[in-house]
Formats: sequence, structure tokens, C-alpha cells
Amino acid sequence: MVIFKKIEDLQNYLKTLRLAGRQTGFIPTMGALHAGHISLIDKARAAGLTTVCSIFLNPTQFNDKKDLEKYPVSTAADIELLTDAECDILFLPSVDEIYPGGENETRTYDFGYLDTILEGANRPGHFKGVGQVVARLLSITTPDKLFLGQKDYQQCKVLIKLTEMLGEGAPEVIIGDTVREPDGLAMSSRNRRLTEPQRVVAAVIYQCLISIESKQHTDRFEIVKKQCEDLLKAKGFAVEYVALADARTLQLLTQYQTGAPMVALIAAKIGEIRLIDNIIIQA
Ligand code: PAF
Repeated sequence: MVIFKKIEDLQNYLKTLRLAGRQTGFIPTMGALHAGHISLIDKARAAGLTTVCSIFLNPTQFNDKKDLEKYPVSTAADIELLTDAECDILFLPSVDEIYPGGENETRTYDFGYLDTILEGANRPGHFKGVGQVVARLLSITTPDKLFLGQKDYQQCKVLIKLTEMLGEGAPEVIIGDTVREPDGLAMSSRNRRLTEPQRVVAAVIYQCLISIESKQHTDRFEIVKKQCEDLLKAKGFAVEYVALADARTLQLLTQYQTGAPMVALIAAKIGEIRLIDNIIIQA
């Protein structure tokens, strides 16, 4: 794996690859890598692409600065994982490299409705920062395909919208399945901050999502939602949302729909750790 810290060096290298007819798949990350990230590298490699991974802990997407300070950093272990996964290129820029004119000088994007609900409503400014950094990273790496994990379902929708706004030359977005621990907990960089007892109850989020799916033909969503909220609270979570939405548009639903897929989404905090997860429900 070749590692670049400077944009110019990365771009020179990418230019030679393109001249040799190679296509690239880009996997943006904030580090603290786990099997979910590696599954995206595998997916890009399986598609025959040269894999470009970035590790950049983007300050502009943290509405809560304490969350940024506590975000796990494990660059040496990340490099080892990427090397084992046979990732081709790692881009490891500094904040100055990404925002040379300061964080406010880089263009931002308006995601409209998508930024008003769920993560957007609970983390004001978060998607503005995500859009800002991903647009910047795409302008640097100009990949053919962009790989994202379904675990951040709303982020996937936001970034599909971003690529539409960027227009010609923007990469195709490929979404990889959520990778789960044996008890169902979605893999996340934040999981490593969980204490042992918190880790044990964390899988309740997935159990709630499964119950939302399994009760779609027998119960009203408002009843199932209340049961999930009660269970999560009883297990010590502070619930931010238990929601159901149209899987294509993310329009929130108050009841199960038929004829079009839905997505059930949960965000809840256990202690200081905020966890999110979702599953797609076929109608
Ligand atoms: O999902 C993440 O890790 C981040 O939001 C991303 C897409 C790398 C942008 O910083």
C-alpha cells in the first residue's frame, strides 16, 4: 500500500494510474477502522478497482466537540488492517491540507429535507460538514466509484444527493451492507468506547429493529415504536429516535406502508456513546 499525506503527490500517482487505464474506488473514513470498512475495501477490489482509502478525522462534521476529542484514533493499527486487506492507496492528510483557507472557506452544500430529519435534526450542522469534506475529498481523488456503508443510511442518501449536485464526473455511489457482531450490534468505530456492561446491552438496538420488521403485519407501528423506546430506556439508553421511513426518499412514516420498501432507524445513547443503526424492511 502506498501512503500519501500531500494532495499533490497523491494526484500525481493517480494520474499515472489513470494513464495506465486503471479505475478507482474511493472509501472515505475517519479511521478507527473495523470489519465494516474492510468490507468496503473488499467490495471495491472485487469490482476490479484500484482502492483509495482516506483517513481524515473531519472536525467540521462534529456538532459536539467533545465527541471529536474522544473519537478513537488508531492510525498504526488502521494501516496494518488496510495493508492486510491489500488496499492500494491510503490518503492521510492533515487538517491544513484539506482546509488550507480555514474550515469556513471550503464550499458547503444544502441537503434540504434530508438535513431536517433524524441525524440532521439531532446533530445540527453534521451533514453540512460531511458534505463539505466528501466534496473536497472527491475533488482531490476524482474516483470512479464511491463506497459507503449502509449503517449510515441517511449519510448515504445525503452523499448520493451530493454526487447529483456535483454533476458530471461525480462517482457512482455503491452501498455496502452493514457488518454486524455475532449478537447483531452494527460495527462502528464508537463501539470501542463502550464499557463491558454497555457492550452487552448495545445489541438491544438491533433486536428492536428486528422487532419493527417482524411485527409489520401484526401490529401498528406506533405501538411497536413505543415498545422499542420503553425497552431501550429500561436497558439504560437515552433514546433520540425510533423511526420508520420510506427507504427511497426517507420520508418519515407514521405507519407501515405496503408496496415500497421501508427503513427502520434508531439512534440512542448509552452513557456518552451515541449509537445508530438501521435495517431495510421489504413491504
Ligand atoms: O462515515 C464517515 O466515517 C464520515 O462521515 C465520512 C464519510 C468519512 C466523512 O468524514
